[in-house]
Amino acid sequence: MTTGELLAQIRVHGAVPRHVAIIMDGNGRWARERLMPRPFGHRSGMKAVREVIEGAIEVGLDVLSLFAFSRENWMRPAKEVDALMSLLEEYVASQADELEEQGVQVRVLGDLSRLTPAAASAVDRVVRQTASNGRLRLNLFISYGGRDELVRAARALATDAIAGHVVPDEIDENALSARLYTADCPDPDLLIRTSGEMRISNFLLWQAAYAELFISPVLWPDFTRHELFDAIRDYQSRHRRFGRVTA
Ligand code: FPP
Repeated sequence: MTTGELLAQIRVHGAVPRHVAIIMDGNGRWARERLMPRPFGHRSGMKAVREVIEGAIEVGLDVLSLFAFSRENWMRPAKEVDALMSLLEEYVASQADELEEQGVQVRVLGDLSRLTPAAASAVDRVVRQTASNGRLRLNLFISYGGRDELVRAARALATDAIAGHVVPDEIDENALSARLYTADCPDPDLLIRTSGEMRISNFLLWQAAYAELFISPVLWPDFTRHELFDAIRDYQSRHRRFGRVTA
């Protein structure tokens, strides 16, 4: 089926997920297949990011979340970490105007205190430049870990309880959700992982509780809007029950 036909099918079917989250995996293997160093794969992965943002706009998503760098990724060899940080800086600096024109609102979520000053200021610039856009919200998760996010939320709740702002017995799911990086964002409906790996890898542990999972065999640099549309078509064929029974 062509990409256009897939898009037409999605439209006929109606309900598009509001929020799609993607674990972009397989850059290293993609590079190795070409006898190239891993950073070459990450650079090619950056092109796939552009492509998928265009696809997300075309199909009408509200939110696209991309896992670009995990807290665990800091433990990769320094050369690769440096390459990823430079790529991030280059990405946000070179794409800021295009993202702005596309109406994309960029948010960068994670432990940003560990970014290099140059990467931090590039991130800050694009977030400010695109803050009033409303066509697509793009969450870039950088230096992010789901467990760390939950620990931070627990710490914030404890601090608020000690200060008398919340009563421990009244802490509920909404109180915790409100203290996550994604506080003002709907939960992901669809979570895609590329490169055939079947793991969550500490991504959106709380928020993905009821997300539909889609594992694509495609390595991230080869992922295009066609694969995104394919995943969305698959999502549309699922029956989401949220733990209940169907009527
Ligand atoms: C996983 O592939 C991918 C990453 C750790 C980085 C993702 C980064 C990009 C897609 C490019 C930059 C994007 C932005 C938004 C700046 P891997 O290295 O784990 O691949 P492997 O499993 O084949 O080794």
